[in-house]
Amino acid sequence: MSKQIDWSNLGFGYIQTEQRYVSNYKDGAWDEGTLTSDATVTISECAGVLQYAQTCFEGLKAYTTEDGHVVCFRPDLNAQRMSDSCKRLEMPVFPEDRFVEAVVKTVEANIDYVPPYGSGATLYIRPYMFGSNPVIGVKPADEYQFRIFVTPVGPYFKGGAKPITIRVSDFDRAAPHGTGHIKAGLNYAMSLHAIVDAHEQGYSENMYLDPATRTKVEETGGANFIFITKDGKFVTPKSDSILPSITRRSLMVVAEKYLGLEVEHREVAFAELENFAECGLCGTAAVISPVGKIVDHGKEICFPSGMEEMGPVTKKLYDTLTGIQMGRIEAPEGWIKTIR
Ligand code: PLP
Ligand code: COI
Repeated sequence: MSKQIDWSNLGFGYIQTEQRYVSNYKDGAWDEGTLTSDATVTISECAGVLQYAQTCFEGLKAYTTEDGHVVCFRPDLNAQRMSDSCKRLEMPVFPEDRFVEAVVKTVEANIDYVPPYGSGATLYIRPYMFGSNPVIGVKPADEYQFRIFVTPVGPYFKGGAKPITIRVSDFDRAAPHGTGHIKAGLNYAMSLHAIVDAHEQGYSENMYLDPATRTKVEETGGANFIFITKDGKFVTPKSDSILPSITRRSLMVVAEKYLGLEVEHREVAFAELENFAECGLCGTAAVISPVGKIVDHGKEICFPSGMEEMGPVTKKLYDTLTGIQMGRIEAPEGWIKTIR
């Protein structure tokens, strides 16, 4: 039985569910892993994560499809990206096949929290790992915990599909040759001051420019950019300090193979923005959130798609992507993992 939750009015927040997955790494090996109802974590006051932020995470979603199945979207790519994050942070990799199995187990154990089809909500899945034993010299921990919890969520931005206004940030979220391309907790710590300040100034998000030259568009604190040119091309920024969004990589396929658009994955100069017809943010949490306006120190860049609704091409991308995720449109081979 589905839980009594007002699915249609959920925001993007944490609701504690019944079960979560835990596996511990000690003496060079992961244990077999288990589900637990204990939603708290107890670790040393000197744990690597608490002192030197040795932690990374992932984010994906489970969906109820039109025909009543529960599925998740490309979990193998989250497993791969977490493996990349762990290697860069000198953490042990949780084996990719076990990652996917653990995601499936955790969703199955909380199946009543998967929002119904058509409710507008989804089940957000948060795998994460941290250094758990005492570390006082600056070095990697020897012991780690890998966990997965789930929480039902609604839209990441208030207003759902309504275009948002963002601003160009004076702060960077990543460094050249740093950790922008992995999902390290430290990147998000870096962005907290910038997002609080952006919200105080009335903006929904920050546009970060490339940290080396500040002339090229990178991404926001939690999503990649997509742009549509006035002649209907799909353009998305390429950079070594952007997180390789699974949604963005999927949209590149959707744009080309489903919608027949020309796709350009390349450096995008900030100066080019005024030539674009549509702009959106894409990610697991953001899905595709339309951007109507970008403010650069008082100078406004207003996209022709306006502040009322998603641009027409963005809408087609949104409908096709969510159609694939919710089983209304046939998915490319291997994109959908059926859980039930
Ligand atoms: N960029 C950042 C900084 C993110 O935190 C996220 C969220 O995961 C994304 C992009 C989007 O990635 P994905 O589509 O894999 O969720
Ligand atoms: C996601 O989209 O899964 C993210 O991790 C973005 C943000 C909530 C951190």
